[in-house]
Amino acid sequence: MEPTIQIDLKKIDDIITHYHGNKEALLMIMQDISDIYSHVPPAIISILVDRLGVKKSLIYSVATFYKTISLEPRGKYIVSVCTGTACHVRGAEKITETLQQKLGIQEGQTTADRLFTLKAVRCIGCCASGPVITVNKETYGGLDRTAAQKVIDDYKNLPLNGTA
Ligand code: FES
Repeated sequence: MEPTIQIDLKKIDDIITHYHGNKEALLMIMQDISDIYSHVPPAIISILVDRLGVKKSLIYSVATFYKTISLEPRGKYIVSVCTGTACHVRGAEKITETLQQKLGIQEGQTTADRLFTLKAVRCIGCCASGPVITVNKETYGGLDRTAAQKVIDDYKNLPLNGTA
């Protein structure tokens, strides 16, 4: 079961006020909220509808189109495995399998401690370094099973607010 998220309504209000309640700023507002909660919690959707005068469907469209925004809870670290052709040929499947085992989750899922979300992505433009994964904005290439596991261990061992 997902842990309950405490939403700080004052913070949400501050973000909306910062953008003067302008519906043109919907993307930025959703991004700022995602930066705090790692996603836009469902409870906030109706606040955005009321305060910005936007349709719910627009909020869903933004969340679908921009991969930095999600309506589902995500981990602190988004682990994306490239499944493009070059990485596939170089063993991306093995890397996916290794990460699934290591994290105990399937693609698209988040670990219970909300530390990692595992995703499959298309070519990220570093084909010569395949197989490639990214963790948030960092890229790791030339991976084998052991190296992929080490990447995860390194993030697990970071202090709570650290980055690799
Ligand atoms: S196919 Fe993986 S980076 Fe291009």
